[in-house]
Amino acid sequence: MLAIGSDHGGYGLKQEIMKYLAEQGIEYRDFGTYTEASCDYPVYGEAVARAVASGECERGILICGTGIGISIAANKVGGIRCANCADCYSAEMCRRHNNANILALGARTLGSGLALKIVEIFLTTPFDGGRHARRVEMLDNIQSR
Ligand code: RB5
Repeated sequence: MLAIGSDHGGYGLKQEIMKYLAEQGIEYRDFGTYTEASCDYPVYGEAVARAVASGECERGILICGTGIGISIAANKVGGIRCANCADCYSAEMCRRHNNANILALGARTLGSGLALKIVEIFLTTPFDGGRHARRVEMLDNIQSR
């Protein structure tokens, strides 16, 4: 199960991504927002991050205007490695090297064609493991004070 969420800035792109996921037969749960009314991105970043951190969902996708605020929110939850990607190479490497478990996208910075390609790469690229596993473990061991 994939978790997906956005604020109002990401609402339109989220509809396109959910259509793509449905076409691909990928199950998802939409954690909101459910309208285009102005709302606060930390709410949705935290909700998706907690669903992934708890194991309820394996991975997540978050969308706001830039992908920045909502990725910052998600990365405050322990065990979350959220990558804000605006190109295909970063989408591949955030999986291969960082084992990113949430992808963040900017609806106001990306065209939908590129955004959907980034989603496809994020969902199909495996983690390389090896030396990267130690580094990811180091990330997960960083404690907030
Ligand atoms: C909302 O206007 C906008 O600030 C938000 O979508 C996001 O871009 C924040 O990082």
